[in-house]
Amino acid sequence: MRMVKNKHNKKPTSLRCSPFSLVSTVVGCVFMIHLIMLYSRKYSVDLEVSSQLLIHHPIVRELERVEEENIHMPPPRKRSPRAIKRKPKRPTTLVEEFLDENSQIRHLFFPDMKSAFGPTKDDNDSDTLHHFFPGRIWLDTEGNPIQAHGGGILYDERSKIYYWYGEYKDGPTYHSHKKGPARVDIIGVGCYSSKDLWTWKNEGVVLAAEETDETHDLHKSNVLERPKVIYNSDTDKYVMWMHIDDANYTKASVGVAISDNPIGPFVYLYSKSPHGFDSRDMTVFKDEDNTAYLIYSSEDNSVLHIGPLTENYLDVKPVMKRIMVGQHREAPAIFKHENTYYMITSGCTGWAPNEALAHAAESVMGPWETLGNPCVGGNSVFRSTTFFAQSTHVIPLPGVHGAFIFMADRWNPADLRDSRYLWLPLIVGGPADKPLEFNFGFPMWSRVSVYWHRQWRLPSAGGKKIA
Ligand code: DGJ
Repeated sequence: MRMVKNKHNKKPTSLRCSPFSLVSTVVGCVFMIHLIMLYSRKYSVDLEVSSQLLIHHPIVRELERVEEENIHMPPPRKRSPRAIKRKPKRPTTLVEEFLDENSQIRHLFFPDMKSAFGPTKDDNDSDTLHHFFPGRIWLDTEGNPIQAHGGGILYDERSKIYYWYGEYKDGPTYHSHKKGPARVDIIGVGCYSSKDLWTWKNEGVVLAAEETDETHDLHKSNVLERPKVIYNSDTDKYVMWMHIDDANYTKASVGVAISDNPIGPFVYLYSKSPHGFDSRDMTVFKDEDNTAYLIYSSEDNSVLHIGPLTENYLDVKPVMKRIMVGQHREAPAIFKHENTYYMITSGCTGWAPNEALAHAAESVMGPWETLGNPCVGGNSVFRSTTFFAQSTHVIPLPGVHGAFIFMADRWNPADLRDSRYLWLPLIVGGPADKPLEFNFGFPMWSRVSVYWHRQWRLPSAGGKKIA
């Protein structure tokens, strides 16, 4: 407390600093800070409004059309008295039906080769050429099903070519022991190239399994999942990060490989426990300032860890934040829009589908806020199972500001090589549907929506480019 002299009566006057005035000052400051934040939020909302012009272009509106989908449970199968006596487990939910390889409605989840799509189909016309058919078999330029599961896309700025990397799983599915998860021996990382995101040329296996050395991380008896490639402009190298594990998922590590060329061959460098922790599902994200980050499910999948990579992208720096603590999320896919970071994750249910969640953050290192299920359309089972699929990557949808392509895997645990790809439009914008966090009555975040479509195409594939 400070004493000042009163110049009239010369008596010292005390400047009262009561608890009340202290509290009001603090509240006033907090209010001012909120107003400033609100203004900056409002400003970014205004920016988004201007981009809505593009989002509301009629061709783009096609992407946001809400499409219903109704798959019903099949009638119960006739069972012999012996079968009834043995009481084998009958599927009672659509998810169990989806996982039942003898299901009568299996063709609805895994349509056969007759409905495959891709550039080699003779009957391609304006209704099919350059159209995506999520869940159908997708053929490459040689007419073979694309093998790039748990994959990601690298856009090579110099050549203007997209590269799709993923698990090449064209081998038999088996269980290494009775209770072990379904698996395919490591074959390697498949790579496909494309100029239009629809016509994919097989560039071969760019990181191959090790056939003989049983101690090698890439020995075929191990696990290699979710490979992602980023380009380092300082070193002029393509760097691949992947989940490396043993058949029982106890090694829980990340692996790193490097190449001079996007189509390989990649040289495998090493595996490690990042920051000294277990690491299973993972991805890498390269920010606009070229800083790259590793994001991985850790602590027995209970929490995600995020941390920056070293400048050469070959290791992690000793900095890490724990995010979505206790939420048990995996399959992270990160993207950025107007200075906000977004992430889609899945729950942890092995190869079985579950509900996706969208998350947002102002800083990639967090804190991250959970926004809710982004899936729109289908029916409630479709929405609560990510359309029977699991996130793997998100890339900007060419030519449309605020639109992205959500890439997901519809796993087929009975025959993993026959797992399907679901590419769907993802739009950032519009009001969030569930009350999230509010700032003086304004929602903090925009909605993230992934729209179900049986068939769709990129706006730029219609001949009229939107820019
Ligand atoms: C879920 C993960 O997301 C997949 O990449 C794979 O590891 C399966 N689990 C294995 O069960």
